Amino acid sequence: MKTTGQPRQPEKLSKSDRSDIIKAPPLAFVLFGATGDLSHRKILPALANLAATGNLSNNFCLIGVALDAMGDEEFREMIIKTTSQTTSNSEWENIVAQSRYIAGKYEDPDTFERLEHILNEVDLKLGTAGNRLYYLATIPSMFGTLAKTLAKHKLNSSPNQDGSHAVSGNGFCRIVVEKPYGHDLESAKKLDAMIHEAFHEDQIYRIDHYLGKETVQNVLALRFANAIFEPIWNRRYVNHVQVTVAESIGVEHRGAFYEQAGAVRDIVQNHVMQVLALTLMEPPAVADPQSIRDEKVKLLKTLQILKPDEVKTSVVRGQYTQGQIDGNIVPAYRAEPGVNPLSTTETYVALRLFVNNWRWEGVPVYIRTGKRLPKRVTEVAVQFHQVPHLSFAGKLARELDPDAMIIRIQPDEGVCMCFGAKVPGESFKLKTVSMDFSYGKTFAQPNRDAYERLLLDAMIGDPTLFIRADEVDRAWQVVDPLLEAFADNTPPLSTYEAGSWGPVEADHLISKSGQGHAWRLP
Ligand code: BG6
Repeated sequence: MKTTGQPRQPEKLSKSDRSDIIKAPPLAFVLFGATGDLSHRKILPALANLAATGNLSNNFCLIGVALDAMGDEEFREMIIKTTSQTTSNSEWENIVAQSRYIAGKYEDPDTFERLEHILNEVDLKLGTAGNRLYYLATIPSMFGTLAKTLAKHKLNSSPNQDGSHAVSGNGFCRIVVEKPYGHDLESAKKLDAMIHEAFHEDQIYRIDHYLGKETVQNVLALRFANAIFEPIWNRRYVNHVQVTVAESIGVEHRGAFYEQAGAVRDIVQNHVMQVLALTLMEPPAVADPQSIRDEKVKLLKTLQILKPDEVKTSVVRGQYTQGQIDGNIVPAYRAEPGVNPLSTTETYVALRLFVNNWRWEGVPVYIRTGKRLPKRVTEVAVQFHQVPHLSFAGKLARELDPDAMIIRIQPDEGVCMCFGAKVPGESFKLKTVSMDFSYGKTFAQPNRDAYERLLLDAMIGDPTLFIRADEVDRAWQVVDPLLEAFADNTPPLSTYEAGSWGPVEADHLISKSGQGHAWRLP
């Protein structure tokens, strides 16, 4: 018989006991932008880790494409140098030893002729079976051009599908597109039209790395695999919801990029919308890619689209000035490299939205995100109503916060229930306490990096954690009114000191509900 209530040891799974190790099919992985920042920081380390955990096929070939002039050997040395900081394993070293590099411009037909030649060669020599995955880790302005040029050279389908090459098996051909997916609704639609001219929707994998985070996926498990939470997950019990994506880093070396983006495009349009959709959507009938994504879109369609006068009252935008983080003086945003000294780009945004559906009518959703806040933390706080009548009035209940469930997405991943308890002693004093589930303490194996999970899913053809075109569109429809108003200096840009929790106007935004709402201190 199973017992409950006993302290349990963390579950540790070794590579050999894991029956859930998924093996990707044979594959040519073509990395456009192979020498760039994203490839170095995320993609190459993720591939190296997937090799270490036995997830990559024995017939895997990495082909890098970028502008930098170098040969195969130099490329291999570059990869080893990048990935040896995080992992070194013989599987990966073998893959790197067979990797190829193409130095060329993305608009140049010669680049694609060489690519086609190498793809055919590795199908024959390394058994990649006509399967191709193109990863676009280039500057966003190249996404559409690359998709079209691949199609022009007939590289948008597997040679197995058009029968032009003698490779056995049923090949697939997929394209992985990074964010930002457009810079507003119109440009996103244009980009989509270009990519759709070349690839079918089921070949397109739009990445939002937040969906690869274990805790974001756990929102689905928490809500739909347990009977106790769903009955209270609605307007009758939930008072309001807060989503916080706080970063202590500034714009680092990405000043020029960030100038064009700002917090709304960089975080709200994608990461926040995805987290909100999973937190607030209806249960899917089955957990297949289409049903989950259908429910997400349905939720996004019920999010309030702010009218211009509502932007004035429901949104605060801010920019950091010089301040201190962890005891170090950090410069103002306007003094960062690549940033216009008179920039009006927002590095912080707070907003209040309502969800126009039966379940959430009248429940405010507060969102805030910013750079150079005191710490890195992403969380969703679902705050419940107060009890209808508090018998323990006055002083005894003074320290009592409303009940809340906090989904900690990062760091220190977990879920925490906060509720009132009696303080030991003779009087009936109450205090808010918490019941905590921590991923790190419960499961001994570390969470995989989001990119590892997503790359593997793209290789095995599971699109559940990728964004569909209609989700992208809807998310832009929600944020476009903000961007239009910002261009008109509405609301006026506020400032906040680096290392603080944002502009004071954001506190007013949440407190003016008159219901005692305040930002949680994560
Ligand atoms: C990226 C943004 O999408 O997400 C960055 O472009 C941001 O500006 C990053 O720093 C945050 O990701 P994470 O996983 O560290 O929360």
